[in-house]
Amino acid sequence: MLSDSQTLPHPASSISDVIRTRRSPREFLPDPVPVEVIRGVLEDAQSAPSHSNTQPWLVHVASGATRDELSAELLAAHDEERRTPDFTDTYGDGVHLARSQHHGAALYGVLGIARSDHERRNEVVRDNLRFYGAPHVAFLFVPRLGDGVRAASDVGMYAQNFLLSLHGRGFQGIPQAVHGLYADTAREVLGVPDELKLLFGIAFGTAAPESPVRSLEIGRVPLEESVVLHDTPVW
Ligand SMILES: Cc1cc2nc3c(=O)[nH]c(=O)nc-3n(C[C@H](O)[C@H](O)[C@H](O)COP(=O)(O)O)c2cc1C
Repeated sequence: MLSDSQTLPHPASSISDVIRTRRSPREFLPDPVPVEVIRGVLEDAQSAPSHSNTQPWLVHVASGATRDELSAELLAAHDEERRTPDFTDTYGDGVHLARSQHHGAALYGVLGIARSDHERRNEVVRDNLRFYGAPHVAFLFVPRLGDGVRAASDVGMYAQNFLLSLHGRGFQGIPQAVHGLYADTAREVLGVPDELKLLFGIAFGTAAPESPVRSLEIGRVPLEESVVLHDTPVW
């Protein structure tokens, strides 16, 4: 049974409802998303703001045979430890590391996987590379512009539009940085030149309604930990 905060928004829901009920599903049904929905989502995502309207995203959407080949090649790269990340994945040693550890503990807790169970933990990574069973995946590439931060933040805006548009239409997606560990493999399968760097993939489709991971309510820190108000009346 889904909790109130996980029920899909009514078509006439407010933007706030759509934003707040979005979740990252980790199990999908195999049913494909209708083409007109995919097109609508891509058009919504394309309307994202970007620095000087540079629109630095280059997006490859894989379905069917290409999706299957991509997943198989990523799994092989993972099993053979052929890691070729374009970006580092560090959390420091303070609050961000603590939040990440809390998230990991909550996720593996819901899945009933012990910290010491390396085999099952590895299967969770492999599930990521199977796109959690989703019928489609969008890989988000970005050109190396300067130190990369501005362009990457633009692609983040694109990605959030993409996720919210999916959710508002009754579908779901999950961003997956783990795909970025095997960037060369993804470029090879998708025919992407080396100059384009892989930020992450978004697996998308219909979330499996009965999945145990749907009960994961990871929550957020209170506003006061993230926001400083200066002469701004809010409450
Ligand atoms: C850029 C990015 C990369 C992520 N990478 C992964 C990933 O590789 N695997 C995964 O299961 N979840 C991944 N996530 C999902 C986050 O864990 C999730 O967004 C976070 O825990 C908050 O949960 P929610 O999206 O359900 O609100 C990623 C999210 C973002 C924004």
